[in-house]
This record gives sequence, structure tokens and C-alpha cells, in this order.
Amino acid sequence: MYITTLCNLKGGVGKTASTVSIAGELAADDHRVLVVDTDAQGGLTISCGYDPSELYPTLTECIEGEATPGETIVGTGFGPDLLPARLSLSFSALRAALGEPTPETRKGEEPYLAMRRILQSVGEHYDVVIIDTPPAVSLPMVAALAAADSTIIPIDCKPLALRGLKLVMQCIQLIRIRANSGLKVLGVLPTMFRKRTLLSAEITEALKNQCNEHGIPMFSPVSHSVRFSELPRTGGPMRDYVPELSKPYQEVAEEVKRHAKQTQGATQE
Ligand SMILES: Nc1ncnc2c1ncn2[C@@H]1O[C@H](COP(=O)(O)OP(=O)(O)OP(=O)(O)O)[C@@H](O)[C@H]1O
Ligand SMILES: [Mg+2]
Repeated sequence: MYITTLCNLKGGVGKTASTVSIAGELAADDHRVLVVDTDAQGGLTISCGYDPSELYPTLTECIEGEATPGETIVGTGFGPDLLPARLSLSFSALRAALGEPTPETRKGEEPYLAMRRILQSVGEHYDVVIIDTPPAVSLPMVAALAAADSTIIPIDCKPLALRGLKLVMQCIQLIRIRANSGLKVLGVLPTMFRKRTLLSAEITEALKNQCNEHGIPMFSPVSHSVRFSELPRTGGPMRDYVPELSKPYQEVAEEVKRHAKQTQGATQE
């Protein structure tokens, strides 16, 4: 099992849309894929065709030790399985912040290690796990990064994007020091790129320079298209809708496969 987490502290940059479309690419390539929603708003759960308020149990119950991941994971219409989230996840994070014990923390588990425990228990069933995170430094985001082999940073091609990358890199550095020294940045994924605008070109150029400074790769940009806002209704990835728009996601999927192979090779040696 290889785990990658999509994260950016900024909202609306395409984390959820990218999670679904990268998962779709890997599933189409015969990989057993699990997508995990760690956002209490349930955006990924909705994008996979579910109404979060109608689901029980969800990630909340897995974190709190009231349900097993096996009881919680559901299928999707496009191949991957989904570990869903609903609003109760906010209360779970609040209870953890207030130090309220759960069966798992009573056994000595640090709250930020819950995701690692949950995924280890289903690891044999999946080749790749892709975790979608909320747009804030929060317990679910930290737990998702603490469990991951790598992270992908979607960044929308807008002026504030450059400040965002610096902040994300600072968070990742702290997580490497305190929780997960092996966390690799697989790359920055520019999203909502408008081909014919000078602004998008300038931003991706500046983003490329910043990536070089941080020593991290940048993927080809995902174009801006209204087709993305139509996706949640179809409950599936871009490759099933407008394949041309999914090409950058194909590139990301290739990189996920390459790093997964490399990581597995290293653990087998
Ligand atoms: N390449 C794109 N072009 C145009 N619209 C996009 C693109 N990618 C995503 N969108 C749209 O932008 C909105 C935000 O996307 P998405 O929900 O994936 O972002 P997010 O980073 O997960 O947001 P949040 O931080 O709120 O969870 C959605 O309406 C989505 O359909
Ligand atoms: Mg989202």
C-alpha cells in the first residue's frame, strides 16, 4: 500500500477534484485504489456520489474506535473505494483538542497517528490510497500527512498562490521533523490554468522558480474548465468525462506509480 495526500491550506484550489481524477486514472490502470475523505464538509464523499448525512459509520467512527475501516469503506461507480467523511468529523477533532479520550487514545495512541492505524488495517486490499484534506492546518490534515509516503500540492494559478506554497512547505517541514521523516513532496500541481492569459503564464513561471528553490517538481498544469464544476453530478473522474482535460492527472498517476515502486523496492531490500 502506497499513500499520497493532497494538501494546500488554501480552499477551492482543486484538491478534491484532483483526488477523484488521479484516483480515476490509477483505477483505470488496474490499481486497487482507496480514496479517503478527511474533510468534515464531505466534498470528496459527495464527489463520489454519496450524501454524507446518509452515511454511517464514517471516518469519525474509525478514528474513535467505534467501527472498523472494513465496516466503513464503500464502493464508487468509477472503481476506487471510498472511506467517507461527514460533519461529525469536526466534533471528533474538537474532542481530541480538548483531550477527551477515545478507546484508541486510552491505549496510548497520539490523535495524529489515527490515520496511520486505520490505513494499516486495510493496507493489504489496496495498491494506492489517496487522501483528500480540508483547507486548513487541522488534526485531519496533520494525521493525513503523518500517514503518507508523499504529498501532492494543488495550487490554483492565481496571485495569492505563491504565498500559499511557502506556508505549505513550512507545515510539511514541521511534520517531517515531528511525525513523518519520510514524507516526500511528489510535486506541485498547478490547477485552473487559463491558457490564453498572461497572468496564468506569469504565475506558473513564478511557481516553477519557487519549486526549484524548494527542490520540488512541478507537474503540467490542469486547465481551467467549467467541465470541472459539472463533475460532482456525474460522480466520477475527468478521464470519464473529458479525457483531454485529464492528461495532467495521467502524468501525476505515472509519478505516483513510479514513487510507489521505488518505495516498495526500498522496503523489500
Ligand atoms: N481545473 C478546474 N477548472 C475549473 N474549475 C475547477 C477546476 N478544478 C476544480 N474546479 C472547481 O472549483 C471548485 C473547487 O474545487 P475543489 O472542491 O476540488 O477544491 P478544494 O481545494 O477541494 O476546495 P476545499 O478547500 O473547499 O475543499 C469546485 O467547484 C470545482 O468543481
Ligand atoms: Mg475539497
